[in-house]
Amino acid sequence: MTILDARNISKRYGGLAALTDVDMTVSAGEFVAIIGPNGAGKSTLLNVFTGLVVPDSGAVLLAGNDVTRHATNRRIKAGLGRTFQHGRTFPRLTVLENVMVGAAICPTLGERALRESALQIIEQMGLADIADNAIRTLSYGHRRMVELARAVACNPKVLLLDEPAAGLNSAEVAQLVKRLAHLREKHQLAVVLIEHNMGMVMRLAERIVVLNFGSKIAEGAPAEIQANPAVLSAYLGEGYAHARV
Ligand SMILES: Nc1ncnc2c1ncn2[C@@H]1O[C@H](COP(=O)(O)OP(=O)(O)O)[C@@H](O)[C@H]1O
Ligand SMILES: [Mg+2]
Repeated sequence: MTILDARNISKRYGGLAALTDVDMTVSAGEFVAIIGPNGAGKSTLLNVFTGLVVPDSGAVLLAGNDVTRHATNRRIKAGLGRTFQHGRTFPRLTVLENVMVGAAICPTLGERALRESALQIIEQMGLADIADNAIRTLSYGHRRMVELARAVACNPKVLLLDEPAAGLNSAEVAQLVKRLAHLREKHQLAVVLIEHNMGMVMRLAERIVVLNFGSKIAEGAPAEIQANPAVLSAYLGEGYAHARV
C-alpha cells in the first residue's frame, strides 16, 4: 500500500527551479532515503510533503487522499511526522513539555492522556532520565533525540527526517540508528530520510531517491545507486564505487 505519493512536483523560487517534475512514492512501512548535493531540492521536497511549501504544480497524496492544499496540522493528524534540518525545540521547556507540544496537535484525549503518551515515547527513546530537564541544559545529541521523540508523538504513519545525523558524533549516530529501527518495528513506520551520512543511508534505506538541481536523476536499491554513474558523478564522487568495502 502506498502511504505517500508525490506526483510531478515542481517549485520555482524566482528564476531558480528548486524542484522540476519530481515523482516519489513511499509504501507503508518502507524506508526511503533522499540524497543529493546541497541545494538539490531535498528539503524543499520534504516541505512539500508537510505543507510548509506549496508546489507550483503537482499533487501530494497521503494514504490515498489529496492533501496538496491541506495545512500542515491537518497532514499531521492524517499521519505525517517530521523533524527539521535546523532543530526547533523550545530551549526553556523541559523534554517532557517539548514532546507534549508535539503530541498536542494530534487528535488526543486531553491533558492527562497527552502526558501519558509523551512519557511513553520518552521512555522508548531512552530519554526518561532527563524528562524534566530543560532543553537548553542538554547536549546537542540529546536535543536531536527530543526532536525525534516529538516527531513521533502523534504516532505517525510516515516520518520525515531532514539530516537527523548532522553534527552527531559516531556514538550518537549509532544511538539514532538503533532508536529509528526500534521505532519502525514498534509502530510500523515508513521513513523518509534526508542524510549526507552515507553509511547510515546505505544501512537503513530500502530505496534511495537521488536529486540534483531539482530533478530526480536516479532511484533504486542502495547497491544500484552506489554503482550508478550519474549519481557517482553528481554526488558520491567517482572514487566512491572503488573505495567501498
Ligand atoms: N524560501 C526560499 N526562497 C528562495 N530560494 C529557496 C528557498 N528555499 C530553498 N531555496 C533554494 O532552492 C534550492 C533547493 O534548496 P533545498 O531544498 O534547501 O536544498 P537541499 O535541502 O537539497 O540542500 C536551493 O538553491 C535553495 O537556495
Ligand atoms: Mg536541506
